[in-house]
Amino acid sequence: MLIEKNYATINKNAYFDKGEAINMPEENVRKKVVLSGIQPSGIPHLGNYIGAIRNWKRMEDEFDCLYMIANMHSITVRQDPAKLRRQTYEGFATLLAAGLDPEKSILFVQNQVPAHAELAWILNCYTMFGEMSRMTQFKDKSAKNAENINVGLFTYPVLMAADILLYQADAVPVGADQKQHVEIARDIAQRFNSIYGDTFTLPEPYIPEAGARIMSLADPDKKMSKSDDNPNACVLVSDSKDDIIRKFRRAVTDSGSEVRRGEGKSGINNLITIYSVASGKSAEEVEREFEGKGYGDFKLACGEAVADFLRPFRENIDRYMADKAHLDALFKLGAERAARIARRTVEKAEKRVGFIKKP
Ligand code: TYM
Repeated sequence: MLIEKNYATINKNAYFDKGEAINMPEENVRKKVVLSGIQPSGIPHLGNYIGAIRNWKRMEDEFDCLYMIANMHSITVRQDPAKLRRQTYEGFATLLAAGLDPEKSILFVQNQVPAHAELAWILNCYTMFGEMSRMTQFKDKSAKNAENINVGLFTYPVLMAADILLYQADAVPVGADQKQHVEIARDIAQRFNSIYGDTFTLPEPYIPEAGARIMSLADPDKKMSKSDDNPNACVLVSDSKDDIIRKFRRAVTDSGSEVRRGEGKSGINNLITIYSVASGKSAEEVEREFEGKGYGDFKLACGEAVADFLRPFRENIDRYMADKAHLDALFKLGAERAARIARRTVEKAEKRVGFIKKP
């Protein structure tokens, strides 16, 4: 696994020859490939931003990046179709508001590139039932959706493996909860390669050193999640400054009073991580800054720092959402660019397993 401090591991050989190129620089070498995705389940929250999207932006200059809205993953739980469509636009607008550049990176919507479903079917036949049964997210989600434990929910990690392997991704920047899924993608790739010879690049999860698991503000033993019933548990990147400050004021902490990390202080640990990322200060600096001050002052400072940190989203999401035609044009651009690369991998995999070439 790559974590932030090991950035150099992917950086070291940032340019190397893998034959076919995405953006072929003059010297006939290619940058390493980064792919990640987010489900369109409403406006992303602070955890999605700190755990994943923030790194997507940081990787944009150095690597060939593909970022997608994973709407095919979303229908593993029941969705309202109109709402899912709107949220797909909103998710994409959020990526633009985060500063991702649709010229530099390939930004696309998953269902608009048919190769994802095509490769997922093939990979399903190289994935073991037992492997899927061990996925912790499947266990959690099937416990929460007992009335709809569909087969798509079960094979969800195989579709995610297809997303990653289609583009021969080297690194997958995600939060800690997705690490197991990236590892299984690697196992599936390894199995396929060992049967048929080199077909897929083996991907590695890229997990931030701080903020890989941002916790709920209302229950700091649970991860921050959009599906939380308590509106104060989760800060959306588009929340108003007042809402952000109110949510941090109400954040659940322990009965202590010192702003210092420690065992059994999950609330304060979480707030220190958030404040540290939002302010760019180390956790030690944060502890020194609040020495002798109480939780009340600290929570207010957190709220203000996060509100500043998220300002670009508040200012820009609505602006992007107001121009659907522009978003549609970007969808088309991204889907065409992604499909060109994905097709090469699917054709290779189809040939390996013995399919007849498509007309
Ligand atoms: P999703 O939509 O649940 O989350 C998007 C990203 O946000 C991270 N994340 C968090 N990070 C820190 N703290 C949290 N509380 C927190 N909650 C979420 C997630 O780890 C993720 O990186 N299956 C994926 C989407 C996907 C994907 C892919 C990702 C589909 N195909 C291929 C990578 C590669 C998902 O549901 O993420």
